[in-house]
Amino acid sequence: MRNLSYKLASLLFLFSILLNPLSGASAADFKREVIYQIITDRFFDGSTSNNNPSQSAGLYDATKTNWRLYWGGDLQGIQQKMSYLAGMGVTAIWISPPVDNLNTNIPDGGGNPTASYHGYQGRDFKRIEEHFGNSGNTWTDFDAMVSAAHAAGIKVVIDFAPNHSTQDNAGEFGSLYDNGTFLGNYTSDTNGYFHHNANISGGGWDDRYQVEYFTLFDLADLNQEHATIDGYMKSAAQLFQQHGVDGFRIDAIKHVTWGWEYSFANSIYTYGDSFIFGEWYQGNTSDPLYHDSYKFANKSGMTMLDFPLNTAIRSVFASNANFSEIDSVINQEATNFTWKEDLVTFIDNHDMARFLSVNNNNNRLHEAMSFVLTARGVPCIYYGTEQYLHNDTSGGTDPYNRPMMPGFSTTTTAYTLTSRLSSLRRSNPAVPYGSMTQRWINNDVYIYERKFFGSTVLVAINKNETSSYSISGLNTSLPVGTQADYLTGLLGGVPITVGSGSGGNNPVNTFTLPAHAVSVWQFTEGTAGPEIGSLGPTVGQPGVKTVIAGRNFGTTTGTVKFGTTTATVNSWTSTQIVVTTPAVTNGNYNVTVTTSGGSVSNGIQFTVLTAKLIPVTFTVYNATPTVTGDYIFLTGNTVELGAWSTTWDGAFGPMLTPNYPDWFITASVPAGQTIQFKFIKIASGGAVTWENGSNHTYTVPTTGTGFVNVNWQY
Ligand code: NOJ
Ligand code: NOJ
Repeated sequence: MRNLSYKLASLLFLFSILLNPLSGASAADFKREVIYQIITDRFFDGSTSNNNPSQSAGLYDATKTNWRLYWGGDLQGIQQKMSYLAGMGVTAIWISPPVDNLNTNIPDGGGNPTASYHGYQGRDFKRIEEHFGNSGNTWTDFDAMVSAAHAAGIKVVIDFAPNHSTQDNAGEFGSLYDNGTFLGNYTSDTNGYFHHNANISGGGWDDRYQVEYFTLFDLADLNQEHATIDGYMKSAAQLFQQHGVDGFRIDAIKHVTWGWEYSFANSIYTYGDSFIFGEWYQGNTSDPLYHDSYKFANKSGMTMLDFPLNTAIRSVFASNANFSEIDSVINQEATNFTWKEDLVTFIDNHDMARFLSVNNNNNRLHEAMSFVLTARGVPCIYYGTEQYLHNDTSGGTDPYNRPMMPGFSTTTTAYTLTSRLSSLRRSNPAVPYGSMTQRWINNDVYIYERKFFGSTVLVAINKNETSSYSISGLNTSLPVGTQADYLTGLLGGVPITVGSGSGGNNPVNTFTLPAHAVSVWQFTEGTAGPEIGSLGPTVGQPGVKTVIAGRNFGTTTGTVKFGTTTATVNSWTSTQIVVTTPAVTNGNYNVTVTTSGGSVSNGIQFTVLTAKLIPVTFTVYNATPTVTGDYIFLTGNTVELGAWSTTWDGAFGPMLTPNYPDWFITASVPAGQTIQFKFIKIASGGAVTWENGSNHTYTVPTTGTGFVNVNWQY
């Protein structure tokens, strides 16, 4: 009897997991989300009891006049605003780093007190900041906030900053704690937990070695190659996964050892379903490290914030540049990024002036919002955008881009717009998964089509404030007939009439697009074969679960294949399947879904790793056969090292040479495996030269970090 009721209870539990659309492994499919970025301290003060905690007394400014002190916003405040967020169509929040931060005041140049109210000076990554939670630094408030978010259908992404602890030359001098136990600090770093180099400056911002190993704005630069720091950061991230977070926004990924980050992402995915995007700051696609950025996004398992597109969005909508600027970034990135639909797109954030500080024009803001909410990528809206929040002191840059949320009106146009376009992202798969093609363009008008198999979304934006445009010669894949504006005129949109054409080019009758109008037309395909739109993660070793999302998988379980090998299915719905990566040889595989009725889907690429990843630093001494512009790369016999690839994108590198002619790089390689590797030179013209001799071999440790030093073989 006891046994039976136990079985019944676990069966009910299983059902509740299966039936609850909010639970289960779905974080990996973030393309369907609308993210909302919250500076926790500036959102809402839900509890006054944590405003001036004893261990860090004096960092709170009740008058809200010192922009660099805490103003009272907290996790309870976020929790209390869940229905406001849900009503706006927000399906995920990205909150400030919630970890215990610097406790002391560090006066600025003018002698005014400052505090780490933004969260980017972590001191203990395993406890919650007392100003956001409680003076015991416990998880209580964090857990309650996560539960409330999940109950409201909202996922939680935390900002996580593994690059550094606190300021290295003042305050707590970088002191790092492991759940309350002191680990070390920057000034008496006997264990080597930190990199000790100067601040990144000048040309150093484009130099790979300085970018990764020098100091970012006086912040104590952590040495992720040290097994203690490596283990600390991975276990801290896992702790947040245990406390229910669905994803991570990784701070300053360009400044953390790149090769280490592959193993960090792998550690998160090995533990559980997640979505990881990083902040790789760059102005545009001509940035000297742009190529490194997309190579990283294509290989590491981590996507990134789309800074090049952000620049173009601000330039076009705020500064009135021609739409071709956006169009060319979309096209360039489509060529370079394998997983462009995962890039996180945005108009502004906490590090730049708010859009309305640059151009105080709500029409333009609505147009930019419509763009990010319908273009390819996962849109992220900065808190307060929907309330037209801005403070223009000093041009509205940091810290004036972080005012207190002014109110929570649910009737603004921006609030309604976000809600409607969030619904469209959920109902029409062309928005999260579809291709993006320009259909009509001039300086002021941009018309683009999103398409996923038979589903289509067509968007037209006219950013001219006074002139309408007559649109003729427009073609679309939308079906024949009258198509109504999905926004029902919210931004001045109009219906169109689609005629009959061929090859996905149905002619649209000439129509007038009014001044500052946005029109959205859409068609969602009915029954069709199985269609995969998303895979996440896109890289993992046998045993790691991956989430396949799309449509028409059917309600009866079918099969999923990696190449020709059938994978174990953990769960199956008509839109989402969770599978376990099968034990196949490492390499790239085409993943397909076959329905129970035998229909086969499109394929999507997944990289099967050999084993869990361990960061290993490879040094090759005396590799002299180089001239300026030549680089040494690492290549080897597993997919992690490029499977003997000799191309810039396929091999691991370029390696770094702060002490020429010695070169080094940290790569993430399979735990416990004996790997073979060699170094190659890729000359500036592309010519490849192998070092001589037989392959080097190395057995990767099963835990911690590794180091291997060899001589270039002549
Ligand atoms: C980038 C963050 O977005 C910024 O606000 C922060 O100050 C730096 N990284 C350092 O953590
Ligand atoms: C071909 C290269 O020429 C050689 O040097 C290298 O050892 C092998 N690839 C890898 O087995």
